[in-house]
Amino acid sequence: MDNIEALNVRKSIRGYKPDMVPKEVLMEVLKVAGRSPSATNTQPWHITVVSGEMLDRIKHRNMELLASGAAPHPDIPYKSYTGVYRRRQIELAIQLFQLMGIERGDSDRRAEWNTRGYRFFDAPAAIIISSDRSMEESISQLDIGIITQSICLAALGYGLGTCISGQGVMFPEVLREFVGIPESRRISISIAIGYPDWDFPANKLESKRELVENITTWVGFN
Ligand SMILES: Cc1cc2nc3c(=O)[nH]c(=O)nc-3n(C[C@H](O)[C@H](O)[C@H](O)COP(=O)(O)O)c2cc1C
Repeated sequence: MDNIEALNVRKSIRGYKPDMVPKEVLMEVLKVAGRSPSATNTQPWHITVVSGEMLDRIKHRNMELLASGAAPHPDIPYKSYTGVYRRRQIELAIQLFQLMGIERGDSDRRAEWNTRGYRFFDAPAAIIISSDRSMEESISQLDIGIITQSICLAALGYGLGTCISGQGVMFPEVLREFVGIPESRRISISIAIGYPDWDFPANKLESKRELVENITTWVGFN
């Protein structure tokens, strides 16, 4: 698979086969993704890979917190989207609910769907990316964005699917407790990783993109 094809076929996988991913394969993915560029080659990322019983415990605790009504409080704060960004967010939700057969008014199934990201979409492994708080936040988050995409693209080469999940890091204290990420590191993002279950309806999603013409300003061209 060349890089153009990889960029075209990568998509978020929200349903996985239960098969474990061998540690050696994950190691290869991380080795090649580690070739990602970063500002002055600082490589600010720390990667935690979690699987098996510890992943189950994290999922279980996240579910308990959600059920208790605890407010998500990620280390990297999110704010509500407005305007065109909100429209795109809603379009995505509509597409996903249609594929999953979730009716607009079915609040139970909508809420259940919402928990999937907190369960890393039941993938057999999850990757958590954190970075030292001594690093300037905005530039190191750019670097982390780059390696995040690199992991997703590298994974394709091993028949793996991924879903980047902000939901997976909404309760950072859970990750600190179960995988030992110290308070001195900001937890940025998680990536669910495993072998895609192509029968899972949401995996059929083709998410939309704005036309290049609408997002690009050309200067100095005819
Ligand atoms: C920073 C970031 C956080 C994300 N968090 C979630 C998430 O919490 N839950 C989820 O289902 N998808 C999440 N996604 C996946 C996006 O929804 C997805 O990338 C987008 O809709 C485009 O679809 P595609 O990945 O299939 O091309 C996240 C993606 C990024 C880049």
